[in-house]
Amino acid sequence: MAEIVLKTENLGISFGALKAVHDVSLEIEKGKLTTILGPNGAGKTTFFNLVSGLLKPTTGKIYFKGTDVTHLSPIKRVEAGMGRSFQLTNVFPTLTTYENIRLAAQSHQKVGYKIFTNHMKYKEVNLKTEEILERVLLKKKKDTLACDLTHGEQRKLELGMVLALDPEVLLLDEPTAGMAIEEVPAMIDIIRETHTMGTTVVLIEHKMDMVKILSDRLVILVNGAVIADGDPKSVSEDPEVLKAYLGGGVLDEVTA
Ligand SMILES: Nc1ncnc2c1ncn2[C@@H]1O[C@H](COP(=O)(O)OP(=O)(O)OP(=O)(O)O)[C@@H](O)[C@H]1O
Ligand SMILES: [Mg+2]
Repeated sequence: MAEIVLKTENLGISFGALKAVHDVSLEIEKGKLTTILGPNGAGKTTFFNLVSGLLKPTTGKIYFKGTDVTHLSPIKRVEAGMGRSFQLTNVFPTLTTYENIRLAAQSHQKVGYKIFTNHMKYKEVNLKTEEILERVLLKKKKDTLACDLTHGEQRKLELGMVLALDPEVLLLDEPTAGMAIEEVPAMIDIIRETHTMGTTVVLIEHKMDMVKILSDRLVILVNGAVIADGDPKSVSEDPEVLKAYLGGGVLDEVTA
């Protein structure tokens, strides 16, 4: 039986009268790439905010590798192996690409700037930084300030910073949002490669064409609740799903 690495049980949060996430029970299998799709305002980012600990749920529980992490801080969840990217890019703009990734790698290896820190540890951090630069296809931009990168490159850098933490589960919130169309295939390749290397990926995405190729499973969220869950082909042909998207006015994204 497949190992469940992440599990939510009746997870929910209300903002006043709005049930932004409502009774979501999901089991995420180790090594699989699961995509969460849904119209604007469906609760996708809020779901990630709950799972990663930025928001406290009104109802339900979250389990990570079998442990109840519902009340664990976001940092403790990262330390336990949860990596998360944001819908809006989060990088240090006045540091170079290399420095941004090195900082993440360093925090993971718990290397401070102490006089007596083992020299080998610095070497490991530098090697890790080089490895990640290669993985996110930014080697040529290593000395460029993050603020001078294109939007697509900044998103790759952000992903690199998350990968430098060696996450077991990667939560990616619209990693291609706002990217120039020609930058999208490289990002897809990086995600696919990460998945192939064994990382469990949970992706939020709008681009159905991209999602269909990449995903093992699609979960459709509408008004905070799961309305369909299964293999990409059957879910994308589900009449309920098509109706929900028609209602949201985004059928093109489903059939694209
Ligand atoms: N902190 C908050 N306080 C009040 N309402 C919120 C808060 N965060 C989100 N919401 C509301 O919850 C609903 C779900 O928002 P969320 O950002 O999770 O949607 P989404 O599916 O990620 O949408 P998009 O595709 O546009 O990114 C929206 O109606 C939003 O306005
Ligand atoms: Mg969102």
